[in-house]
This record gives sequence, C-alpha cells and structure tokens, in this order.
Amino acid sequence: MPKKGNKRWQQSRQPMSQEPHDIADDGEKKNRSKKDIQLLRGFKDILPADQGPVQYLQTKATELAKFYGFGKIDTPLLEMTSLFRRSVGDVTDIVEKEMYTFTDAGGDSVSLRPEITASVVRAYNEHGMLNLPQPVKVFYWGSCFRYDRPQTGRYRQFNQFGLETIGEMNPAVDAEIILLSYLFLKEIGLKVEMQVNSIGCPNCRPEYKKNLIAYYRRKKRNLCGDCQRRLLKNPLRLLDCKEEGCQELKSEAPQIVDWLCEECKNHFMRVLEYLDALSIPYNLNSFLVRGLDYYTKTVFEILPVAPDDQPERRQSALGGGGRYDGLSAVISGKEAPGCGVSIGIERLVIEMRKQSVEPPAKKGPQVFLAQIGEQAKQRGFQLLEEFRKEKMAVGQMFAKDSLKSQLELADKMGVKYVLILGQKEVLEGTILMRDMEGGVQENVDLDRVVTEIKKKLKDGKIRSV
Ligand code: HAM
Repeated sequence: MPKKGNKRWQQSRQPMSQEPHDIADDGEKKNRSKKDIQLLRGFKDILPADQGPVQYLQTKATELAKFYGFGKIDTPLLEMTSLFRRSVGDVTDIVEKEMYTFTDAGGDSVSLRPEITASVVRAYNEHGMLNLPQPVKVFYWGSCFRYDRPQTGRYRQFNQFGLETIGEMNPAVDAEIILLSYLFLKEIGLKVEMQVNSIGCPNCRPEYKKNLIAYYRRKKRNLCGDCQRRLLKNPLRLLDCKEEGCQELKSEAPQIVDWLCEECKNHFMRVLEYLDALSIPYNLNSFLVRGLDYYTKTVFEILPVAPDDQPERRQSALGGGGRYDGLSAVISGKEAPGCGVSIGIERLVIEMRKQSVEPPAKKGPQVFLAQIGEQAKQRGFQLLEEFRKEKMAVGQMFAKDSLKSQLELADKMGVKYVLILGQKEVLEGTILMRDMEGGVQENVDLDRVVTEIKKKLKDGKIRSV
C-alpha cells in the first residue's frame, strides 16, 4: 500500500470528477516498484459512476449528426506516422513533440493518432468515397493521444466527437459545421462563443507570410526561442504562441484578412452571412491560426463564455475546426475539399460542471427481484430473462444471499415493487409482491408476475438500469 503522503497515491484515489494534479515528473517513474503499478500520467479511467455525462453527450452528438445526414465512421487508433507528418505538419507541436510514435515489429514507423481528420481523409480516398455522391458527411467519436503536459482539461488520451464534410467547396458546408458545433453545445446547456477567421489559401497566404516574417524579423530579439525557430519554418504558428512577450508582439502584427484573395474573401463573407442569418454568436479573430497545418480558408474555435475573473477558461478551446481543401491531395494526390470540427469530450464534461449543467437524471428500475436460497436464485435468473424480453428493467443482487442486504439495495434504488422469491414460493409456483409505497404485499402466480407488474406500473414501459 503506497503511503498517503505520496502524490501518486492521491492521484490514483481521486474520483474522475476531479482534475488530475499536475503531479510528479517522469523522473519519479524510474523509482517505481512493482507494487506501484498504476494509471499512466495524463490518462484516466472512466468508472461506471462517471459514465453518465459521457453517454449523454454521445447520444446527443449521434442524434444531431444523424439528423443532418452524417454517417458514423471508425478509423484505427494506429496509423502510419507519415500520415500525420504530412497532414498535421512536420513543424507543429503535435508532430514535433506530442506523438506516440514507435517502430512496429515489421520495422514500420507507426503513431497513435493525435487527431482523427487525417485518418478520415485517408479512409475517404482509400475506400473510393470520391465516387459516392458528394459531399460525403461523416461523424466520429473516439480516442486521440498527445504526449502533452497534463493539466486541467489536457490529457494524454482524450476523446473527440467530430464531423467532417468532404468533397464540397460551398461555404454552406462551413456554416453547417459551425452551426452543428454551436447547436450541440447550446442544447447541452453550455454558454459558448465562436472565434472565426480565414487563413486564406496557397494563392494568397504566401504574400501574407512574407509580410508576417518581415514584421517579426524586426522584433526577433523579443521572440521566445520556439518562435525564433518558427519564424524560419512555420511563421503562422507565431500567432498561436502563448508566451507573454510573443502575445504582445502579435497585437501589432499584420492581419491576414487584409491579404485574402478575392475567392477567399468571398468565401469568408458568405460563411459570415450564414452565421448572421442563423444567429450564431461569433467573434472575428484575425489572429486565429490553429495548431494544425492543413487548414485553408475558414478556421474557428469554440470557447466557453467565462466570467471576467476566470480568463484562463477562455484559453482552453472546447473544440475547433475549419476547411482543409488541400489535405486530400497531400495524403493521396487526389483533390477533395473538406471542412470539419472536433470537440473534446473531457473538456466538455469539465465545462458542464463549471457552468453547473447537469445531464438529465436517468430513471432506475421500478422493480427489484430478491431471492432466498439456491433454488430461488436459479428460478430468479429465469424470471429476470422474462422481464428482459419485455424490456422491463429489474434491479437484483444475485451475488448476495441475505434478504436484508437485498432489501436495503432495493430501498436505495427507490423501486415501487419488490418481488421476493423463496424456496417455498418456487415449489408453490408463486412469488411475493410487495408494494413499497403502500406496504401491501400479496402472493402472485409466478407465471403471471410479469403481466401483473406490467399492469401495476402505470406506464408499463422500460426503465433502463
Ligand atoms: P484540435 O484543436 O487539435 O483540432 O482538437 C480539437 C479539440 O480536442 C480541442 O478543442 C480540445 O477540446 C480537444 N483536445 C485537444 N487536445 C487535447 C488534450 N490534450 N486533452 C484534452 N482535450 C484535447 C483537431 O483535432 C482537428 N482534427 C479538428 C478538425 C476537424 N479540423 C477539421 N476537422
């Protein structure tokens, strides 16, 4: 048993509803003894008691996506490393610092996916979806892996819900993606705002980059080390730096909207017109660039609306996305425009808590089946199946023999009826039915008990356990 003062012990005990402490650095791992086997840093277990909000979000997301004609896609957790190097970009934090990459037994370099869009576009090409009626609209729900520094809302394994529309340039696609991102969060009850920008295309962006580089060259001495390197390799990423000094420099930097070509400008205007028409609250943020290299034209992020005294909450996006018209060609050589969004589920659950948004409470079963003795247990299992066939939820604790503990659980569940089956009842073909509200109990024919209970319960419907 690890000592109580040990920070890792505290982490392993903390309920899911708390945040991971930014605990012990990797050096500590070296001293671990065998008995210390525990959760990896930045990873977490989702225990049965914490599944509620996640299941609620998944149901909501699936309903919304399906209504708007998105079909579910699942892609593997592991992909060729080159997929992400080419699509997300070699000079991004994700590829440079955060990928779980290793050489497999066949000698190939493979990586746990740090995001899902690249895999979806690979699948679109690999399965000839280009030949389907366009656009192809898909949604996904799955884990991503980034070796980032764990802190509140930042994990090394996290889950994303995402939507991707591939094969269409129309700005209505961008608007639909932003609309669904907004509706999803609004219907859950979260207050959010969208930050929107256009980062142009290969026609207009190079000119902007030149001006950006010229501006930052003059300030080079004041840039952080990472940004001095970015200046040479990926100047747009300078706008995304969180260092205070670099943030200050950004405020005077040239803005991409002034360099957009006619096509990009028109596209952006039309997206904004849709957002206005749909009353989606948004802020134009001309420095929004995103952390992945594949974007063209529209980019956006979804931020929580937070009180003034909690500005840090506004720095952690709940979701983000945009258009990626060049991504398919980079992956497969075939052109196919696209636009999508991914929303981080863990951040959503945290934000729901911060904004006191509760998922609707799930109703438990209204019936409990208690058993006394071996024969009753065996017959009880059969009876349970009869209830299941009728899609009626029934609480039970077949692992226990004591009637007292079974009745205590029934009481905790707040059921309306308890059915008690003993050896005598099994022999007589009856069962005791106790009305927990009125306190009345009666003997009912075992063969008729399902029908009787159904009659008694007003709605006679499913109550999921
Ligand atoms: P992203 O901005 O890298 O975009 O990630 C989207 C969301 O995933 C973030 O807003 C955040 O909620 C969540 N997320 C990212 N990293 C972590 C982390 N370490 N821990 C917890 N949550 C995290 C993408 O992944 C793009 N694929 C979005 C996209 C889809 N663009 C076009 N289509």
